[in-house]
Amino acid sequence: MAVVAVIGAQWGDEGKGKIVDELSMHADYVVRYQGGSNAGHRVVHEKGEFSFRLVPSGILFPNTTCIIGNGVVVDPKGLITEMEELQSRGIDTSRLYISERAHVVMPYHFLLDRLEEEARGADKIGSTQRGISPAYVDKHARIGIRMADLLDVDAFRGKLASILQQKNRMITQIYGQPPLSLEEIHGEYFGYGQRLRSHIADTQAMLHDALFERKTILLEGAQGALLDIDFGTYPFVTSSSTMAANASGGAGLPPHSINRVIGVYKAYITRVGSGVGQLLRDRGHEYGTNTGRDRRCGWFDAVAGRFVAQLNGLDAAVITKPDVLDNLPTIKICTAYQLHGKLVHSLPATQTDLAACEPVYEEVEGWQCDTTGVCSYEGLPTAAKNYLKRLEVLLETPVATVSVSPQRGRTIQVQDVLAAPEYDARYPRNAMR
Ligand code: GDP
Ligand code: IMO
Ligand code: MG
Repeated sequence: MAVVAVIGAQWGDEGKGKIVDELSMHADYVVRYQGGSNAGHRVVHEKGEFSFRLVPSGILFPNTTCIIGNGVVVDPKGLITEMEELQSRGIDTSRLYISERAHVVMPYHFLLDRLEEEARGADKIGSTQRGISPAYVDKHARIGIRMADLLDVDAFRGKLASILQQKNRMITQIYGQPPLSLEEIHGEYFGYGQRLRSHIADTQAMLHDALFERKTILLEGAQGALLDIDFGTYPFVTSSSTMAANASGGAGLPPHSINRVIGVYKAYITRVGSGVGQLLRDRGHEYGTNTGRDRRCGWFDAVAGRFVAQLNGLDAAVITKPDVLDNLPTIKICTAYQLHGKLVHSLPATQTDLAACEPVYEEVEGWQCDTTGVCSYEGLPTAAKNYLKRLEVLLETPVATVSVSPQRGRTIQVQDVLAAPEYDARYPRNAMR
């Protein structure tokens, strides 16, 4: 058994879905612990392509129990659609549970996400418009609706009536839009609660039992560490904590139960939005899994990468998509920033400083051959191994896994990240070092 957190170590879309799907073969539980349907985790295998938004990427294995933890914000309508799509493709979703404490993304959250973005004009965040930020704002303002609330028709109505009064003032007076109807929302969302009733559970208790039964639990991060609300490139971040430190709190597990933290890095970097980098974008299929938006591409940023490794105490790194670099004669790695005439090796806190940073690159040799069929570390071309070794040194983190294709199974395991750690008397716990 082991409890392993898999987090995105850049700006999202690192290939967490693919990695979590593959690790799920050996997992008893797969838990999403933050974010919401702003995530898009793509899994490709013989049954076709799957794109997960809220459902954990472990659902394709019939013996894995999947949990949407208390730290997630849940759009119940979208979740039902996602579950129905899976069922129509023969995937059993009866093993999916949603924390009764998870907050609900309500129609006014979707609306306000859009209106707030429009009002920002040129300064827009580029939100996925899935209501994520307004939902987390309400959670922290203590005016959120939680999954358990949807099950109690009268209590739900009372809460919604008071919240909606406030939201409608904002919608009509600030944004000049028509108010939302209490009756309509109450009827619709109570209906979703009824549809999801058998899935809404005390998931914290389930996971606590799992710990004592020495089960293997995977904690599936969404977004990436550089989109974290505290440590990301603020304000261009998401509204949850994407750090490993939040994996326990967002799942309902004690912090010391996590044995290992794995960071998923792409062999280069991307950010959703418009911009340069068409070559990597096309070869890397760099379009939002959910939104279809272009992702901006750049060379691997080892400064930001090490910042993330340190903050999350990464035990190992997974490097995905080096195959996208297959044709390049040379590859660059950003090893420092030049800021106001000085060399900087950490991520500046402000957008002004970030914008003023000039990347300092070192150049390494490319391998210029197809790696998508390579199935062992030894089988990789020497230049590719050198690139990976250089990343290990710069990240100060061992590379445990290399993914060379979107296809399930096209993954090179250097180290077993789920190997049982040493027994701990409180909970089984240890770090793989
Ligand atoms: P996630 O949000 O971190 O799960 O990542 P996404 O699924 O949004 O984006 C990653 C994209 O890269 C998806 O289209 C994956 O199918 C694809 N992908 C994952 N691993 C690899 C890989 O090793 N090589 C290539 N070429 N594509 C990959
Ligand atoms: P996965 O889990 C990449 C980005 C959005 C936007 C910012 C805020 O697939 O890696 P939000 O809707 O959260 O308020 O948007 O964060 N963003 C992501 N970018 N991958 C994701 O998820 C993302 N989730 C949010 O594009 O810049
Ligand atoms: Mg994604």
